Amino acid sequence: MKLLKTIAASVSITLASVTSVLAAPIEIKFSHVVAENTPKGKMATKFKELVEQRLSGKVVVKVFPNAQLFGDDKVLEAMLLGDVQLAAPALSKIKKYNKQVQVFDLPFLFDDMAAIDRFQQGPEGKKLLKSLEKRGLVGLGYLHNGFKQLSASSPLKVPGDAKGKKFRIMASDVLVEQFRAVSANPVKKPFAEVFTLLQTKAIDGQENTWSNMYSKKFYEVQPYITESNHGVLDYVVLSSKEFWLSLPADIRPTVEKALQEAIVYGNQVALAKDQEDKQAIIASKRSQVVTLTPEERQQWVDAMKPVWKKFEVELGKDLIQAAISANQGK
Ligand code: SIN
Repeated sequence: MKLLKTIAASVSITLASVTSVLAAPIEIKFSHVVAENTPKGKMATKFKELVEQRLSGKVVVKVFPNAQLFGDDKVLEAMLLGDVQLAAPALSKIKKYNKQVQVFDLPFLFDDMAAIDRFQQGPEGKKLLKSLEKRGLVGLGYLHNGFKQLSASSPLKVPGDAKGKKFRIMASDVLVEQFRAVSANPVKKPFAEVFTLLQTKAIDGQENTWSNMYSKKFYEVQPYITESNHGVLDYVVLSSKEFWLSLPADIRPTVEKALQEAIVYGNQVALAKDQEDKQAIIASKRSQVVTLTPEERQQWVDAMKPVWKKFEVELGKDLIQAAISANQGK
């Protein structure tokens, strides 16, 4: 009897070790829409490297850039269905989950990246991240890309130059009003379609960061880029609550640390690429960079700033005030 018990025990130990050796690693699919050589693309690759180095054999990260897996409009639905585990959509694309994130789209709101950092890392920014939990999403952090510029088929010096032109925008109602404020026609389209829309002249222009315009070659099909710095394009790194909380207790802290480190790295890349990619576009001579005089820029501010008032109720006066205060270092 004793012998039988010993054999049974050793068989179960062996089975347990075989099972643990054979246990499939946890798979994290990270889906995004931009090129690999961008702040978000590089952040995703860094995250993969760090996780696979530190949790070798336990976790694998598969990065899908360029909307290979899911585009703008589908990625979060796919996440809630468990088909993708990480994404970093532009803040302008997640109003369905909390309309207040559109505060980031208000034109000429933030003076510089430091102000954006202060707002994101302050109480209001943290509250916005947390609010997504009600919708089944965990906001794991903000990631920078940078300020947006205006590109077009003809030079845009003053707001009147945009009149009647069709501009592609991300899916944000604030961005709709921003372009209506200069009598232009905004059209919401996924990022993956922008190059073709510009190339075929189905649209006249768009707004984006230097790194997105460079990596996706928008500058090859847009002869003018106005350096307007009129708005911000940043991201929120998201997972589903269901997946995130299902990560084993001995794994989740390491994944989370790797993610935070990758975000810090991505933010450094964002800062560097903003200038590098602008210079690369200038050097290409395919697109002319239009520099505004302070007076010309003020005309854009005067034309677009009334949009803030239109969204005061929807976004909340206090939230807008907190963003304004971030400019003063508060
Ligand atoms: C992105 O940077 O993820 C895409 C931005 C856009 O849709 O213009």
